Amino acid sequence: MPEDSGSLETPAAVRALFASIAFRYDRANHFLCGGLDWYWRRRAAAVLRPWDPRIILDVATGSGDLALTLRGHFPNARVVGADFCHPMLARARAKGLANLVAADGLLLPFADSAFDAVTIAFGLRNMRSWPLAVREFRRVLKPAGRMLILDFSLPPLPLRGLYRFYLHRCLPRLAGSLTGERGAYQYLAESIERFPRGSAMLRLLKDNGFDAETCEPLTAGIVSLYTARRSEV
Ligand SMILES: C[S@@+](CC[C@H](N)C(=O)[O-])C[C@H]1O[C@@H](n2cnc3c(N)ncnc32)[C@H](O)[C@@H]1O
Repeated sequence: MPEDSGSLETPAAVRALFASIAFRYDRANHFLCGGLDWYWRRRAAAVLRPWDPRIILDVATGSGDLALTLRGHFPNARVVGADFCHPMLARARAKGLANLVAADGLLLPFADSAFDAVTIAFGLRNMRSWPLAVREFRRVLKPAGRMLILDFSLPPLPLRGLYRFYLHRCLPRLAGSLTGERGAYQYLAESIERFPRGSAMLRLLKDNGFDAETCEPLTAGIVSLYTARRSEV
């Protein structure tokens, strides 16, 4: 996989896009997926539980919903959120998150082996290079530390055609009228099509320093949850 295989947009365009929708992001998010995102984040926290992480980095934390869920599930852990979009971080701060860092996920301002777990929800897809991002997450993970990725995927056939119709035709119109940013949701649909899913994601993780562990489709596969363990070599 080429190093610049990620987002169709430049990092500056991605940052500007999230800045433009930051103040409506949560409302639009919960509305457009009928509140399922709460379930997906709770499931992510439940999957992390057996690892009992004491220090967790949530990359692309955005308005902080996964970091908040993790804080609720792991009251004794330190949860740090990182994101490169200030207006999104401001939303997270307003919701009570304290340990927030403005940073690019491809160049994290943390020492090697600093975290027990790295999480990323709906963020990796938007990054310039998936392999570089995954390697950066590996760098800041302790040996045998765990990574969790939650992101959109496509459901299997025969649902896939119907879902694609919703994704490409209905969602940009619906979300466009809610947020005023129809282009952001056209971009969302394109980015979901390009993003590796299932075995392709597990291969990406294996090729970049992880022992891929699980791939769990959620809600008929419109979202997938991946876990991987930092490998020794
Ligand atoms: C769809 S939001 C997801 C936010 C949150 N994780 C959630 O589950 O709601 C994507 C976030 O990724 C951030 N992001 C995208 N590329 C990034 C990068 N290279 N470094 C840091 N943050 C990035 C954006 O600023 C945005 O806040």
